[in-house]
Amino acid sequence: MSIKNYFLGVLFLAFLPFFAFSQNETDKPVFVPEEGIDGKDVIWWPTPPTLIKSMLDIAGVGPGDFVVDLGSGDGRIVIEAAKRGATAVGIEYNPDLVKLSEYRAKQEGVSGKATFLNMDLFEYDLSGATVITMYLLSDLNLRLRPSLLKLKPGTRIVSNTFDLGDWQADENITVTTPYHYPDGSFRHNVTNRGYYWIVPADVAGSWSLLGGQLKLEQHYQKIEGSWQNAGKSVPVTYGRMTGNRISFTIGDSEYTGTLENGRMQGTLKVSGETRNWEADRIEN
Ligand SMILES: C[S@@+](CC[C@H](N)C(=O)[O-])C[C@H]1O[C@@H](n2cnc3c(N)ncnc32)[C@H](O)[C@@H]1O
Repeated sequence: MSIKNYFLGVLFLAFLPFFAFSQNETDKPVFVPEEGIDGKDVIWWPTPPTLIKSMLDIAGVGPGDFVVDLGSGDGRIVIEAAKRGATAVGIEYNPDLVKLSEYRAKQEGVSGKATFLNMDLFEYDLSGATVITMYLLSDLNLRLRPSLLKLKPGTRIVSNTFDLGDWQADENITVTTPYHYPDGSFRHNVTNRGYYWIVPADVAGSWSLLGGQLKLEQHYQKIEGSWQNAGKSVPVTYGRMTGNRISFTIGDSEYTGTLENGRMQGTLKVSGETRNWEADRIEN
């Protein structure tokens, strides 16, 4: 061994602990957040794991989904979604929380599926999302509502605690979690609520149906109206959209179907018989 290589070797061994320490240091979380630290429009307050499970369960999150958590805090929802095989992104204004989330995703082995963007959630383009999760505030939800309603029909939205005003949820979530003292004895139950919506397709307007005219009015996922034929008008009842799927009743006939490329088609049940139906749009 030459003298030069020997000293290079000694130098390497001398600095080895330093390199190892630096590596460990960069792998450590940047900080441990306290509940209630500042975000931009709302503070950080984490969703409990039991509710996260229910939120992701009700939305059926799995491979093929693109989940966006608006205001992602320490990344827990994004990480859980990634563990279920989804691609997930967290939008978070607080840069320290973003760094912590990235660290936690790496620790959990999902950094390839879970990414975090340090930005204002109102600036993020939601159009690619199949599932949106949020734990914000009522007024922030209402600010988001117009953008949410423009998303692809069938996009699922789940919110911890706060609703979307008069856009009623398709389903409600209630989760009761027992909390214990450090010695393991029961302390109290905490009940958390959540809301689940499916973005409805827009079907308001007039349609040609079975030789008559179907006139639909729509209030979010609820539809009502009438079917007019030969001077008679029959009310449309029990009308509902679930993404692209439609169901309604005219008289004794129960219609179910889907909207695709401006045309609705499906089956109707009447007097024990099942028939096909289709409707073309006349005007919006
Ligand atoms: C109540 S916490 C919810 C955290 C996480 N979604 C969860 O459920 O555990 C709300 C989060 O939104 C972030 N936030 C507040 N305003 C924001 C904004 N305009 N853009 C992005 N993030 C924001 C806060 O920093 C905080 O982490």
